[in-house]
Amino acid sequence: MDFPLIHDAYASHLCLLSELGGIRDGVKRVLELGSGIYSTPLFLNKEFYPYVIEVVSIEHNPDWADIVRAKCPDDRLKLIVVPEPTETYLETLDLDSFDLIFVDNSDSFERRIKTIEYLGRVCTDSLVVFHDFQFEPYQESAMDFPNKIIDKRSPTHTAIAWKGGPINFRGELCLNKVIE
Ligand SMILES: C[S@@+](CC[C@H](N)C(=O)[O-])C[C@H]1O[C@@H](n2cnc3c(N)ncnc32)[C@H](O)[C@@H]1O
Repeated sequence: MDFPLIHDAYASHLCLLSELGGIRDGVKRVLELGSGIYSTPLFLNKEFYPYVIEVVSIEHNPDWADIVRAKCPDDRLKLIVVPEPTETYLETLDLDSFDLIFVDNSDSFERRIKTIEYLGRVCTDSLVVFHDFQFEPYQESAMDFPNKIIDKRSPTHTAIAWKGGPINFRGELCLNKVIE
């Protein structure tokens, strides 16, 4: 799908994210790090994510959380305000229970890097999607994920990363290497 918003750096992830709802056996549980008016409604949109039963969205800014909640009146959304560092809360979750983890958190590059490094250490099975992946420090932080597909259709890149073997991507491709 060609989203006009692809030219908006804040929305450039929608193109790739809109293609992932049916991946593997269908994305059922989403963990979103960094709530917003783009990704949160997309995960709740049954046209793109028809199998979703729960979106757990972690947000550090309570005022922003109220805005996103108002925009997304949906019982499947669990929007949780958590002070940074986010990893302290992530330690309480079973990350493998999420089919997809979307990383778009924080107002701070350094904190985002810590989150990416943490996920690299602990994730085993989830598909992890990183926004803003054109930044080399984010790429370096994600080294523990051996498999990546990097979407460069927008200057603001988005990457899918995972461990383990090949996955079916849009039912067409079987990938187990870095594709750029
Ligand atoms: C990159 S944004 C997350 C965007 C979200 N994933 C989306 O696609 O809509 C990262 C953080 O910036 C903050 N943020 C984003 N837009 C904001 C705004 N308009 N006002 C205040 N904070 C904002 C929020 O704390 C958010 O978690």
